[in-house]
Amino acid sequence: MCGIVGYVGPNDTVEALLNGLRRLEYRGYDSAGVAVIDAAGGVSVRKKAGKLANLEGVLEVSPLEATGTGIGHTRWATHGGPTDVNAHPHLGDEGRLAVIHNGIVENFAELRDEVTSRGAELESETDTEVVAALLGLEVQETGDLETAFRRVVKRLHGTFTLLAMHQNEPGKVVAARHHSPLVVGVGDGENFLGSDVAAFVSSTRRAIAVDEDNIAVITPDAIRIVDFDGAPVEFEEYEVQWDAGAADKGGWSSFMAKEISEQPDAIGNTLRGRLVDGHVDIPELTELGEPRLREVDRIIIIACGTASYAGMIGAYAIEQWARVPVQVELSHEFRYRDPVLTDRTMVISVSQSGETMDTLMAVKYAIERGVTTVSVCNTQSATIPRESDAAVYTHAGPEVAVASTKAFVAQITALYLIGLHLGRVRGTLAADAEAEAVRQFETLPEKMAEAVATHEQIAQLAHWMADTRSVLFLGRHVGYPAALEGALKLKEIAYIHAEGFAAGELKHGPIALIDHGQPVFVLVPSPRTSPLMHAKVVSNIQEIRARGARVIAIVEKGDTAVLPYTDDVVRLPLSDALFDPILQVVPLQWFALELSTAKGLDVDQPRNLAKSVTVE
Ligand code: F6R
Repeated sequence: MCGIVGYVGPNDTVEALLNGLRRLEYRGYDSAGVAVIDAAGGVSVRKKAGKLANLEGVLEVSPLEATGTGIGHTRWATHGGPTDVNAHPHLGDEGRLAVIHNGIVENFAELRDEVTSRGAELESETDTEVVAALLGLEVQETGDLETAFRRVVKRLHGTFTLLAMHQNEPGKVVAARHHSPLVVGVGDGENFLGSDVAAFVSSTRRAIAVDEDNIAVITPDAIRIVDFDGAPVEFEEYEVQWDAGAADKGGWSSFMAKEISEQPDAIGNTLRGRLVDGHVDIPELTELGEPRLREVDRIIIIACGTASYAGMIGAYAIEQWARVPVQVELSHEFRYRDPVLTDRTMVISVSQSGETMDTLMAVKYAIERGVTTVSVCNTQSATIPRESDAAVYTHAGPEVAVASTKAFVAQITALYLIGLHLGRVRGTLAADAEAEAVRQFETLPEKMAEAVATHEQIAQLAHWMADTRSVLFLGRHVGYPAALEGALKLKEIAYIHAEGFAAGELKHGPIALIDHGQPVFVLVPSPRTSPLMHAKVVSNIQEIRARGARVIAIVEKGDTAVLPYTDDVVRLPLSDALFDPILQVVPLQWFALELSTAKGLDVDQPRNLAKSVTVE
């Protein structure tokens, strides 16, 4: 949440900042702003409430003359509403320095009292302006930005990535992180800072992940990293694997449409190199040591939102193949209930961004309690995989739309691979089960392409249903979390009331919601591979149909048993029961996208949300 960029170098500073902000806008779009050292040697700021386009409009009317040093911000509001005044950057030292911030300063009220009693005047309601004021006062005392910055960051409680620059030290930006992400982009005669590599990947693929409680100081020709006491810290560069074009819309109407259509490749990339001679092999898990994997007696999957539904689906497969009990918990609930954890527990976190604060804090808690931690993550060198004992990357490529799609199917794929790897090492996986799973995986990208091709049919359906005010989703077994995911997508981007239920649960209460014309999507299990469950779901369909529901059934090709009881049928390729939800979720993603479009909403940037939720 909140995107931050910094630039020092000879190129067009404002363009470098805007380019970074365009690629980080998914992190928050309540307001945007930039500050630069201008031609007169002072600090100049432009900032505006609303999306980045508003700031670009301001810059057209009132351009900035920058001289090679600047910082930029795109905001997801925490302290203070989304107004021009509350937009970042904020100024200190009587306008001589500028600060941007991602996170929450919890002791800001106490610091506000202090800075105002020391003579600072504040304009906004933000915690960030208090930090800028404090930094200004410290610069006045120490005469040096870096010393003042170190003093300030040590006094802040909460979470922050902070960037600051001062007109007395042009060509330098300082940045600190505490529980919020920060990456340095290493250029040639220029350097960058960003919340993630998307901020600079169009200019350089060389990056440095800044560690917790460290400060990066960049100038055009040098990068230094120190701790909060100023002691030098060693760092390593890595090469960013994502290419810049992957974060462009590439002709699609939205990033979400592009990302839904990329799902065959996303799955192919998650599988790449992990199916070896008919076996699943994940070297990252092997590195943990086979005895450690054999000793695991319980797995807890922690995640939030869509990632938690991937976790719920993964739990069925891991239990089936590795015969170890798996429990799925929302990250933000996990550490508040004193869970029973032992050195034989494995905690698997699932996170696209690898920065979600709730999940990061839960992982840290698990590490403190001495359990083995495995991260399923999409973002190279993000904090969660770096903190965990092992990282299994999904390699789905950058996901820009706020609503997660390709990362979700890649997460399920990765969890299934983990289940198969554990099952093999623990000797619980029958050879024919492994062979069947590998066969399923080998044909999955192709079947996924067929699922993606349901787009046109779903677009028609959504067109007829544009005025729908409430939609229900039903599923059984692995279809249940997929139903929850379908409902979340619809709430999130079409702002339509939606709920997902386990199909068997309906008669225990929610069936009272069914009225004439109530649309219900039903994820129907395969009659070939799950005949028992299929029969039960067909009964559930009859129950709701009898009460007036409009039934839209997602079925596998050739399933004719449901036809007499449905209004619409979406047909998907045949697969194995465990693999069904990976395909079934696709028409639900298209449905949410098409309803959002029909309502004239912003598919990629739904209201009140941001991707990468870095506050708790
Ligand atoms: C919904 C969505 C969110 C995320 C959740 C976790 O479409 O994207 O529910 O799944 O915020 O995010 P990550 O996976 O980055 O930890």
